[in-house]
Amino acid sequence: MNKKKIITVVGARPQFIKAAALSRAMSASSKLDEIIVHSGQHYDYKLSEGFFKELQIPTPKYNLDIGSATHNIQIAHFLLRFEEILNVEKPDLLIVFGDTNTTAAAAISGAKKNIPVAHVEAGLREFDKSVPEEVNKLITDAVCDLYFTPTETGRLNLAAQGIRENVFLTGDISLDLLVGNQTRYQNLEGLKSDLGIHEDYVYMTCHREMITSDKHNLEQVLIAASKLDYPVIFPVHPRTRKAIARFGLESILESDNIIALEPIGFWKSQTFIRSAKFILTDSGGVIKEAYFHRTPAIILDKQTEWVETVNEGWNKIAGPNTEKILDLGRKIIIPDNHSSALGDGNCGSRIVKVIEDYL
Ligand code: UD1
Repeated sequence: MNKKKIITVVGARPQFIKAAALSRAMSASSKLDEIIVHSGQHYDYKLSEGFFKELQIPTPKYNLDIGSATHNIQIAHFLLRFEEILNVEKPDLLIVFGDTNTTAAAAISGAKKNIPVAHVEAGLREFDKSVPEEVNKLITDAVCDLYFTPTETGRLNLAAQGIRENVFLTGDISLDLLVGNQTRYQNLEGLKSDLGIHEDYVYMTCHREMITSDKHNLEQVLIAASKLDYPVIFPVHPRTRKAIARFGLESILESDNIIALEPIGFWKSQTFIRSAKFILTDSGGVIKEAYFHRTPAIILDKQTEWVETVNEGWNKIAGPNTEKILDLGRKIIIPDNHSSALGDGNCGSRIVKVIEDYL
């Protein structure tokens, strides 16, 4: 029997993590053959190649090198270059992940060529179209054919838009990497002493446009980090590093309470998340990883699509507001309730089975 050809499209750091989990599940299929296409949206070693090595993701057959640009230009470059690949490869189905510019661009390409598109992480909504990721979520779900949604909220959001067919509640794909790999994220002591930390700490990430494109918002977040009762480990995304320089906020980043690092790998990040007193983040990925590890988190965004984690009290929304962050930081508690609302770590095999049946 001829295997069906699947093109998985990735481009930004969170997608490498999701692709690592799904590629593993797909490589066990006798019916599917996977090609990976990298858009080139992320190109720094620490955001891209390092993850391919660390997570043993198959090497992409193509890299479209779209790089950094405005959103429209990134998408335009992707559309131009991906068309040629679709003409050559003639895939049976495309897989896209999450809500980046790469995701939306790939979904449009597939829909325009009548190639079925499967959206992993479908149905999530932030209900704010000023958030670039929200626009990408809406575009992708408007044109895709298979909807793999991580949560019941995602399923309900799709239903509210009239999308009920081909919706599969699978749980979250990135948890597949965490379940069963505990030994890879338990060795904290070495990491802590390398940083000179001997007590509790907070782990922070921050890179969303709402904060990094606005001096006031970024300053509020950095001031909060500099004043928290615990040292703050902060791997700095290149976009955030450039914004700090542009806005002249380096002196806050250099405060004694903030330990600024270059971007770190996946397992190191899991190790820090798992043992932190609490997390400060605007990253959807870190929000759900914190929930998985049962570490409370304060969300730097004004809203989150991971509604379940907030409803159960694990995550609190502060927005980029120093006083609110400090206040929530003083009141951190570990909730009694944890319903594993984001899934059980077996998402990849469910997705593969649905795709096999669909094709
Ligand atoms: C993108 C996604 C975001 C995801 C994040 C994960 C969109 C709209 N946003 O945001 O949802 O959470 O990836 O990291 O798709 N840069 C580098 N090196 C790189 C890549 C980017 O220095 O390898 C810098 C450039 O200054 C660039 C800026 O970061 O202009 C923004 O990069 P971009 O890929 O557009 O968005 P992210 O902020 O990374």
